[in-house]
Amino acid sequence: MSDPTVTDWSDLSVEELEEAVRYHNKKYWIDNDPEISDPDFDQLVETLKDRAPESEALEAIGPAGADVDVFDEETEKLEHAPPMLSLGKCYDEETLHKWYDKFEGDAVATPKIDGVAAALRYDGQGRLSVAATRGTGQIGEVMTEQARHVENIPSRVEATDIEVRGEAVMPVAVFQEKFKHEYANPRNLTAGALKQKDPKQTAKYGIRFFAFDLLGPTCGTEEEKLARLEELGFDVPQFEIVSRDDGQQYYDQIASRRAELRFETDGVVFKANRIDEQQRMGHTAHHPRYALAYKFQGDAGESILRDVIWSVSRTGAINPVGIVDPVVLSGATVTRVSLHNLAIMEHLGGDRGLTKDAKVLMMRRGGVIPNLEQVLEHGDEPIEIPEACPDCGAPTRRDNDVLVADHLQDCSSARLGQLRHFVSEMEIKGFGPKLLEQLYEQEIVTSPPDFFTLTVEDMVPLERVGRKLAEKQIRRIDRARTVSADSFLRALGIDELSHHVSKLLVDTYPSLETIRQLSADELVELHTIGEVIAETVTEGLNEKSELIDALLDHVEVEFPDPGDEVPEIADSPLQDKAVLFTGKMESMTRGKAKEEVQKRGGRCPSSVIRDLDYLVIGDADLERFKEGWRTNKLSKAERYNDDGSNIQIIGESQFLALLEDEPPSREEDLEGLPLFEASNDSK
Ligand code: IVH
Repeated sequence: MSDPTVTDWSDLSVEELEEAVRYHNKKYWIDNDPEISDPDFDQLVETLKDRAPESEALEAIGPAGADVDVFDEETEKLEHAPPMLSLGKCYDEETLHKWYDKFEGDAVATPKIDGVAAALRYDGQGRLSVAATRGTGQIGEVMTEQARHVENIPSRVEATDIEVRGEAVMPVAVFQEKFKHEYANPRNLTAGALKQKDPKQTAKYGIRFFAFDLLGPTCGTEEEKLARLEELGFDVPQFEIVSRDDGQQYYDQIASRRAELRFETDGVVFKANRIDEQQRMGHTAHHPRYALAYKFQGDAGESILRDVIWSVSRTGAINPVGIVDPVVLSGATVTRVSLHNLAIMEHLGGDRGLTKDAKVLMMRRGGVIPNLEQVLEHGDEPIEIPEACPDCGAPTRRDNDVLVADHLQDCSSARLGQLRHFVSEMEIKGFGPKLLEQLYEQEIVTSPPDFFTLTVEDMVPLERVGRKLAEKQIRRIDRARTVSADSFLRALGIDELSHHVSKLLVDTYPSLETIRQLSADELVELHTIGEVIAETVTEGLNEKSELIDALLDHVEVEFPDPGDEVPEIADSPLQDKAVLFTGKMESMTRGKAKEEVQKRGGRCPSSVIRDLDYLVIGDADLERFKEGWRTNKLSKAERYNDDGSNIQIIGESQFLALLEDEPPSREEDLEGLPLFEASNDSK
C-alpha cells in the first residue's frame, strides 16, 4: 500500500473482515459516529472484495444494509427509478487503466464532490415538482420545499418531464466563514440543511447543487449531456475529456489543486463518454460499470493535543481551539485545530473527557479543513470549560451545544474579530493579530473607521513596528480609500452578506444609496436570494448605518463600470440600459451578448428587477410569448410592468438591431414591444 496512513487490513480473516465491514458501516450510517476514516473503510471493503467477492457483507454496505430504518418516519419517500447507484472505486493508475480498456473512446472526468446526492424531477410544464435525497439509492426522502431554497436549483426549466441527478454541497468558504466553529464538516451540514423542518432555513446554508445526470432526453455522449444540463440552467462540475493515457495526469492535477477547490472533493469520477458504450457495459446492483471513482486517500497524522484555548468569535460564541504539536497534513503544517463546540469536544473526549497531552489523530477532511478525528490515548489533566469569557470576564453559559456569554460592550475578542474581518475584506494586508491587538489595546484603533485616521507616528512606538513598516501600512490603508463596492459591503461584517450576495447586489444596483434603501421584499425578488438572507441583510445594513456613514467619510466606494474591461462603443441605444437574457439565442451565446451590452455602456443584472429595460428572449419564444406562453422571468417582468415598471420584452432580432445602433425610435416599430397588455390570458 502506498499510503501509510491507510490501515492495512490484510491480516484479518474473511469472517473478521465481514464483521468489521458490518460494524463500521453501522457506525457510519446509523450511529453517525464513524470510528475509522473514509479511506480506511474503503480499504477495508476492497480487502474483503479481493478475498471474498461474493460475501454478503458487501451487499449490506450503505444505510439499507445497516439493518435499521434510517428514515424519519414522518418524511415523505420517493422511489428512485432507476435506482440511484453508487460508484465503483479504485486507488491506483493500474486499475484505472484496466477500466479504460473495457470500452471504446475517451472518458469524461469530473471532480468527485463530497456532498449529498439528490434527484430533481420536473413536470410536464418544466416545473420543479419533486426533489429527494438519494437515501438508500432505491428510496429517498422528499425535500422539494427545501430544494426550492437552494439558490442554483432552477424552479423551472425549458424541458418537460425530466429528472436531474447530482450532488448538493456546501462551499468550503461558507463552512469556514459560518460553521466551522460549531460543526465537524460540510457534508453533514449539507444533509442537515436539506432536512430543515422550516424549508426557508435551508437558504441559510448556501448549499449549491451540481448536476451530472439527466434522465429523459437522449444524448449521444456524456459531454453532450453536461452541455444540455448547462443549457437548462444547471451548474455542472468542471469537466474534461480525458484519454486513457492522460487519466493519471488529470487525477494528479485535481489532487494537487484540491485545497483550492471551492468544494470538498474526495476523488475524480471517470465516465465512458459514449452513451452507446455505457449501455453496452451496463451496471451491477451496486454501481454502473461505465463509471469509476478514483479516490483520494485521506491524509492523516498523529499529534499531541497540548491545550485548548477559547476563542471569542465575531458573533460572541466562545469556541474551543486545540493547540497541537506541529503535524504535516496534505502538505501544510497544522498546529491549531478547531474543536467546533462543546458538544463535539465532549464527544471527542468520550467518558474521560478531553485531556491535555492526549495523543490524537489529525486529518484534513476533503484535503482542506484540519480536523481532530479521534483521541488515541488520554492524558492526565482534564481540560476545563471556562466559567467566564476569557476576554471581558462575562459569565459563560451553555446554549445547546455552544458556549456563549453576554459579552460586555468592550469585549476585546469580539471587537478584534470585527477588525480582523474588516482588514481582510478590504484587502488591507499586514495587519496581523499581534499588530491589531496592540492598536486595540492602546485604543488607537477600536472600530474600523479608526484605520483611516491612523498615522505613522501612532504606529512607530508599537512593538516590532519600525518607521518603515508603519509607512508601508499607511500606504496600504491609503490604497483602500478607494474600494470596490462588494468588498466594502462584506467588510461591514453583516451575516449573510457573503461573496455571492455582495456581488449580486453590486451587479444589480447602481449605488450604495440604492442598496441601503432596499426593503427585504425587493431583495427577495433577486433570483438567488431567499427571505432569510433578504431580511438579515437589510436589517444588518440598517443596524450598521452609523458605521457605514463614518466609513464613507474616508472611503470612496466604486461600482463596476460596465465599460471597464472593454472599449466602450459610444452613443448606443443600450447605454445605461439594464438588459437580461433568457432562453436560447441563435446568433451568439449569452456570455457574448452580455459582453456586447457592456461594451455599449449597459449592464446585465442576473435576474428580473424593477428597473430592467429589456428582457431578451429567442425569436421563437417571442412568438410563443405572444400566444400566451410564460416562464417565471416573463411573468415577473409583467408583474413589474403592472406595477409601473417599463420592461420591454424583445426577441433576439430586435436585440441585434439594438446592437447595430438602431434605437427603438417608436415602440410600435419593434414588433412585440411593449406586449404587456396582452398578458392577462396567460396567468
Ligand atoms: S457521476 C452512479 N460524478 O458520488 C452515479 N457522481 O459515491 C454516478 N458524486 O451517488 C454519478 N461527485 O452522488 C458522479 N462528479 C461526480 C460526482 C458524483 C459526487 C456522487 C454521486 C454518487 C456518489 C457515489
